[in-house]
Amino acid sequence: MAHPTQKRPTLSPFDKFITLTDKALRTLSKGNTQSERASPASKMDAVDLDAEERKHSAGLMRVNHSGEVCAQALYQGQALTAKLPKVRAEMEKAAEEEADHLAWCEQRLNQLDSHTSALNPLWYGLSFALGAGAGLVSDRVSLGFVAATEDQVCKHLRGHLDSLPPQDTQSRTIVEQMLIDESHHAHAALEAGGVRFPGPVKAMMSIVSNAMTVSSYRL
Ligand SMILES: [Fe+2]
Ligand SMILES: [Fe+2]
Repeated sequence: MAHPTQKRPTLSPFDKFITLTDKALRTLSKGNTQSERASPASKMDAVDLDAEERKHSAGLMRVNHSGEVCAQALYQGQALTAKLPKVRAEMEKAAEEEADHLAWCEQRLNQLDSHTSALNPLWYGLSFALGAGAGLVSDRVSLGFVAATEDQVCKHLRGHLDSLPPQDTQSRTIVEQMLIDESHHAHAALEAGGVRFPGPVKAMMSIVSNAMTVSSYRL
């Protein structure tokens, strides 16, 4: 990754388009996301789940995977329109950590003999547009949007920890590590100058993310 103060080569609009398309296809196709950190569940013994528990765990991990697809798109969109190199570098670093989460959720879904959501291309497109739009307004709004989104994600992850079968320690340990990382992302975005979004905007975001949760759990 380029140092924040380092001048980066300017890409032509066509090069940018190719790079962004490549990122989108990698995120949306199976087995293409490399994780820097091994999954926290990688050294754990397989757990015995009955059919119902397996289905429920898979539904929740599919929601988490879709959330990570959104995170990739959001950060790519923001990095495209962020004005300050420091903010762009911050976005790219967070996107790398989100790539770990994306890979871990996909691995767990494979172990549960389940699949990622068919709606992911839709979530990717919407999140990319939102991220790019926030970046166009200002870097402070863009960072504030990260903080508000990550708060929302943390809320979902806490709910998943309450709902996941207690014996599914593999899924639980992944969600626990994600919760630590996401709350760090929220904190870092505010520290970097992100505006605190007002309650009504957060409530609106909550409605949108609940719609995503309900549909990705099933599809
Ligand atoms: Fe994440
Ligand atoms: Fe995050």
